Amino acid sequence: MDKIKIHGGRRLEGEIPISGAKNAALKVMAASLLTADTLRLSNLPHLVDITTLANVLAQHGVQIRMNGAVGGGHAGRVLELTAAEITGTRAPYDLVRKMRASVLVLGPLVARAGHAEVSLPGGCAIGTRPVDLHMKGLRALGADVELREGYIHADAPNGLRGAEVVFPVVSVGATENVLMAATLAEGETRIVNAAHEPEVGDLAQCLISMGAKIEGVGTDTLTIQGVPRLGGAEHTIIADRIEAGTYAMAAAITGGDVELIGARAEHLSSVIEVLGRAGVTVSETERGLRVARAGDRVQGVDVMTEPFPGFPTDLQAQFMALMSVAEGASMITETIFENRFMHVPELSRMGADVNVHGASAMVRGQAGLTGAEVMATDLRASVSLVLAALAAEGESIVNRVYHLDRGYEDLEAKLSACGARVERIK
Ligand code: UD1
Repeated sequence: MDKIKIHGGRRLEGEIPISGAKNAALKVMAASLLTADTLRLSNLPHLVDITTLANVLAQHGVQIRMNGAVGGGHAGRVLELTAAEITGTRAPYDLVRKMRASVLVLGPLVARAGHAEVSLPGGCAIGTRPVDLHMKGLRALGADVELREGYIHADAPNGLRGAEVVFPVVSVGATENVLMAATLAEGETRIVNAAHEPEVGDLAQCLISMGAKIEGVGTDTLTIQGVPRLGGAEHTIIADRIEAGTYAMAAAITGGDVELIGARAEHLSSVIEVLGRAGVTVSETERGLRVARAGDRVQGVDVMTEPFPGFPTDLQAQFMALMSVAEGASMITETIFENRFMHVPELSRMGADVNVHGASAMVRGQAGLTGAEVMATDLRASVSLVLAALAAEGESIVNRVYHLDRGYEDLEAKLSACGARVERIK
């Protein structure tokens, strides 16, 4: 298993290109199931999760062509997906368990083929993460949905019907599943308390290019007028705001000065505000965002994760790494997922002082961290250890790099180009 070796203590300086958003790309790829025509997607990140979903789609009959230049780290940047015919409606456990987002084929399959069987995703390191809202939403559209032998079985042999779907909590995935299904339902669907993360907006824009009728994009109420069929389209995936936020914190934790090429301020407003209070300057440039730390150390700032436009849960671990070297204390509260503090014991091994009480963590900033051998159990937790290692004195080894490969394209190359000493050990 690969490891990453980091020699800490070097300031990051330079520019980092931000890749296409993983969490937008996955949903837009699933949308290819809604049409017999070709969907051409560009700015796809080259990541293990993308390959996993491509494998899921292939066994439903989607033909996939990659047109990115092979080699040079740009393979798979352009993907053509054609679901001329749905040849299979079962998404099996051995594919779905690798990545929870596979459950996003449920809505498109039942809308287009009238039937779907999707394995329950199973355990997940950051909490129970149920799919009850996905099921509830599709039931509201008239599908027969039940759980049998570890699979969600959804049937709508005579097609779906538009309805009002009111979500009790904001769910990105459930909003996306119902949105995709509703594009082909008969009549009008209203999704109330919809997630309005930028990735949901990107999916909606792609669906609109395919011929869907959607209003309210970017708000918490989506209104969809169903159409009999959707067509092909070309779509460019938005830049990854979580990757951008991660590198912003990498710049901050090393006292660096980095330009994030392609990053968009409107997708990171709460992060920019919090970093500002911590003493990190984030300014818009012609090509993206520039992040620089003004003082000697950042200041401790309290933060609570919330649905967009609040502070994203996917940046909570990285922010904790930053706060572990702040001047003063910081209270970090996680409101989206229970059990999303698995990075705490590993950060502690590098010298961080963190106390967890329920959904909150009290971080007492230290003057410095020290290198150690660490490992993490999920994607964002892993990258928070990389950030801590960049700031730590001495050498760190981050184990289980496969988590990073799920969500960070060319991590070592991007950091090395800015002066970090990072190396992958095969
Ligand atoms: C997506 C993102 C993930 C991010 C999360 C929150 C992808 C592939 N993943 O995950 O990186 O951390 O949004 O921004 O886009 N819930 C239920 N029942 C359901 C569905 C969700 O109770 O049927 C709960 C979850 O347990 C959680 C909350 O709703 O507490 C939000 O989860 P959700 O927004 O659905 O996250 P994902 O779409 O899985």
